[in-house]
Amino acid sequence: MTDEIAIIPGDGIGREVVPAAVRVLEATEPSFAFTEAEAGDAVAEREGTPLPDSTVETVEAADATLFGAAGETAADVILPLREAVGSFANVRPARAYPGVDALRPETDLVFVRENTEGVYSGIESDLGEGVTTLTRVVTESASRRIAEFGFAYADEHDADVTVTHKANVMRTTDGRFLDAVDAVAAERGADYDTELMDALATKLLLDPTQYDVVLCPNLAGDVLSDLAAGLVGGLGLLPSANVGADNALFEPVHGTAPDIAGEGVANPAAAILSAAMLLTHLGYEDEGARVRSAVERTLEEGPRTPDLGGTATTDEVAAAVVSRL
Ligand code: NAI
Ligand code: MG
Repeated sequence: MTDEIAIIPGDGIGREVVPAAVRVLEATEPSFAFTEAEAGDAVAEREGTPLPDSTVETVEAADATLFGAAGETAADVILPLREAVGSFANVRPARAYPGVDALRPETDLVFVRENTEGVYSGIESDLGEGVTTLTRVVTESASRRIAEFGFAYADEHDADVTVTHKANVMRTTDGRFLDAVDAVAAERGADYDTELMDALATKLLLDPTQYDVVLCPNLAGDVLSDLAAGLVGGLGLLPSANVGADNALFEPVHGTAPDIAGEGVANPAAAILSAAMLLTHLGYEDEGARVRSAVERTLEEGPRTPDLGGTATTDEVAAAVVSRL
């Protein structure tokens, strides 16, 4: 069976790193049918919308999507794209690699972030007289769904789970989240630790080795995963997955990098590692692991792009990864 993969390079270095990742996917065993679609600033300028209906249809029809980045229109692109794949879980590994200068070279953990509610509910009001409010939505169903996903992910990776929250202050909402997590853990016979999110920020910085899988409400996951990105030495290294019930979208964490776009020197590692997550997600676990280890060896032995102190181009790094497959 041929898997249908939607490819959306987007803007800026997305147009450089996504083709590099596609080259790596093409060098792996599974046979994919790629359909390229447009999103972002460039198509907005031409067609008046950053996310044409045809792109959403391509994503909905595909088995998985690889997305680069969009520029100024990012929010108008990525939020509807995540919706198009029904994403409820944002998975962000933060891992330091040998050969890459990192603040905490021993970092190796994964954030599993609830991706549909919390303070990103969009329910804000301006009550006038300088007073504004935001409604934080936490439902039992979404909390259970992310807990089930997080514990299953931890099982597959033989990892411990830490659940972060702020239920000492947000008693009702994070209380609901914790109750749901606890119920799911009890059903699965799973163990977990809990950590207040502010304390976790400190502990992550001081000793990230204490954590494997960190299960987070939406805002905590957004902030803490960016903190962990700082521990591993560079935005060019961080992949992510947006997972839904029967579709998923994979993207590097970085944006369009306008300062280097067009020069052909963007680091393709985050995009290639996102493609590795795509492979694993579609059931090609050996292929995903092979791509990951080819990237690891390339980071360790070179060639490297300028963000990692090297002089190689995006294409040279992609070619080195392909040759190591
Ligand atoms: P950015 O991630 O594009 O760049 C931040 C810094 O990291 C820059 O110095 C850049 O050169 C460097 N960098 C990022 N990725 C790199 C790579 N693969 N190789 C080498 N260096 C890399 O974030 P910034 O500057 O805040 O945003 C630029 C544009 O990207 C904005 O228009 C923003 O809206 C958009 N953006 C889009 C995202 C998305 O589509 N998911 C996510 C973040 C930003
Ligand atoms: Mg963020």
